[in-house]
Amino acid sequence: MKALILAGGAGSRLRPLTHTSAKQLVPVANKPILFYGLEAMADAGVVEVGIIVGDTRAEVMAAVGDGSTWGLRVTYIRQDEPLGLAHCVLIARDFLGDDDFVMYLGDNLLEAGLIEFVTAFEAERGRLEGAPAALILLRKVDDPRQFGVAELDAAGNITRLVEKPVDPPSDLALVGVYFFDVRVHDAVRAIAPSARGELEITDAIQWLIDQGQQVTARELHGWWIDTGKKDPLLEANRLLLERLVPRTEGTVDETSSVEGRVVIEPGASIVRSTVRGPAIIGAGTRVTDSFVGPFTAIGARCEITGSEVEHSVVLEGSRIVHAGRIVDSLLGREVEVVRTQGRRGATSLTLGDHSQVDLT
Ligand code: G1P
Repeated sequence: MKALILAGGAGSRLRPLTHTSAKQLVPVANKPILFYGLEAMADAGVVEVGIIVGDTRAEVMAAVGDGSTWGLRVTYIRQDEPLGLAHCVLIARDFLGDDDFVMYLGDNLLEAGLIEFVTAFEAERGRLEGAPAALILLRKVDDPRQFGVAELDAAGNITRLVEKPVDPPSDLALVGVYFFDVRVHDAVRAIAPSARGELEITDAIQWLIDQGQQVTARELHGWWIDTGKKDPLLEANRLLLERLVPRTEGTVDETSSVEGRVVIEPGASIVRSTVRGPAIIGAGTRVTDSFVGPFTAIGARCEITGSEVEHSVVLEGSRIVHAGRIVDSLLGREVEVVRTQGRRGATSLTLGDHSQVDLT
């Protein structure tokens, strides 16, 4: 089995966080989101991986390289315009050949690994007749209108799939991990663009069903986060920090305290401060006269001085200096939040693209 991982291009979901930075490379618990997917592939024994890249390809390629870090062989496939998930399958035809494959949306995070599903799909392939053309994963969600949604009959067979329905037929969303065999290539050629101008993978699967092909579904257990949606990054960070194995490789002075599940990476220093886990402090970061509270991931080479940071993700090279209390925040790379002597009650900001500030 091969894998097709979407790390750029594709659809509206993949709009970069800033001009230069791919959303899939934003770290949660100090590891890029995309790497969790690559690890899941390696764990499931999938070695041949095609990665769809778009505008942010230079960054993705620099981070992932040839994939050998994970024991993978990576081929990059360029999508020049975000024409949809099914379009990714279309342009990956040469790479995929006639092989079975798993398609993985690079901004999805799953608590469960993929081994169970890879095994199930491969086992069914062994049957001579009636092997399913696709296996999809479904998960109950609170607001199905943001997803592809499945309608099942009483026996649990899929009867219909709809993309972003206004009036959802169920609360079962399509998870961004799909298994296909060669028949999907006919489907992606047959469908037309949706109202949002994309070739939808949901429509391709519906086409298979309409052709009388068998499409099976399995319910995903454990948490699933589509980090391409609004606000889920901090939630992913929270869930992944809870899995950390505590270790201290940096230095903690005698007046500081480190409590609970905390990772302090090499070269980090904690001075006159408290770090309360779950939290991770990146390599070379200095935390001085500060409080780093639960569910916080501070990237490498940051400076936190005289401030409180809680339930936040701070990317590498950022400075938070005498900034008061920062909560529920996502700060990009090399961001500075610094209180200087100046006009009281005035806030001076330099914000990158797609930034959001909540002044309370
Ligand atoms: C895509 C799919 C949708 C699926 C979702 C899962 O949506 O079109 O069917 O439920 O991924 O992450 P998008 O995030 O591109 O809007």
